[in-house]
Amino acid sequence: MANPIKTAVFPVAGLGTRFLPATKAMPKEMLTVVDKPLIQYAVEEAKEAGVEHFIFVTGRNKNIIEDHFDRQYELMNILKEKNKIDQISILEHDLPSAGQTSFTRQQQPLGLGHAVWCARHMIGKEPFALLLPDMMVQSEVGALKQMTSQYEKHGNNVVGLYEVPHEDVYQYGVVKIDEQDPGQIKITDMVEKPKIEDAPTNLMIMGRYILQPEIMMLLGTQNKGAGGEIQLTDAMLKLLEFQGFSGVKIDGKLFDCGSKLGFLSANVSFALEHPEVGTDFRNAIKALLKN
Ligand code: G1P
Repeated sequence: MANPIKTAVFPVAGLGTRFLPATKAMPKEMLTVVDKPLIQYAVEEAKEAGVEHFIFVTGRNKNIIEDHFDRQYELMNILKEKNKIDQISILEHDLPSAGQTSFTRQQQPLGLGHAVWCARHMIGKEPFALLLPDMMVQSEVGALKQMTSQYEKHGNNVVGLYEVPHEDVYQYGVVKIDEQDPGQIKITDMVEKPKIEDAPTNLMIMGRYILQPEIMMLLGTQNKGAGGEIQLTDAMLKLLEFQGFSGVKIDGKLFDCGSKLGFLSANVSFALEHPEVGTDFRNAIKALLKN
């Protein structure tokens, strides 16, 4: 049995070029799905899985993320004056406790692998979770929680997987698995952004990981890979030579909010399920589609 994971890393330094001009001054992780920014969904997912320390790897223009997880005295005072009890309790509930958040900067956009490596001193010798906030899952049990039960049983490294149409594999990291072992999905190979004809399967790496700290040492010497960037998948492939990797097929709906279509679909899907606006929104959508 492995010890529960207590630390999570959130790489939030990306430039968000696919969402310009919305992301010119605002980080893409602050784009909202219904009424919460993407980064908050990821933090809540980590909390649900037992995480107590949240490490954000930020970049320029990202101070607003730090502010989002801080107490806003002026706002609180105004809400108190107006007796807005519900809003106050939402904000209090969402606020991390003192010392639970840490921030470091990726000074140059050198890729996901480099962003993760920037957190190495905060991680030290402990295994950690990694969540890419662009990738949102709508599910009963959060994606990371689906993975921690596997991790606590088998230890090692765990990667969240999701089946995508074969023609989409070139956009993601893709794994090969050992079909012989039905009890556990054992990963035997990984490739970042393969050509469609070279992809070993249509099981993509969906942005949730539990990694051993040795990944940091490998990232420190990792050469550039796909897209001229330091790729996490390439370092994981090296780690696979001496540590196991298991996969968990994530149960739920996955939205790639790094694309406009994925982001819009996430908004529609989460709005349809929203306790306050769900029913009215369904009617509004039906009315729109009639025209
Ligand atoms: C990253 C990872 C890739 C993964 C994807 C999920 O790619 O490198 O393996 O499948 O996230 O979103 P990126 O989206 O940064 O190009």
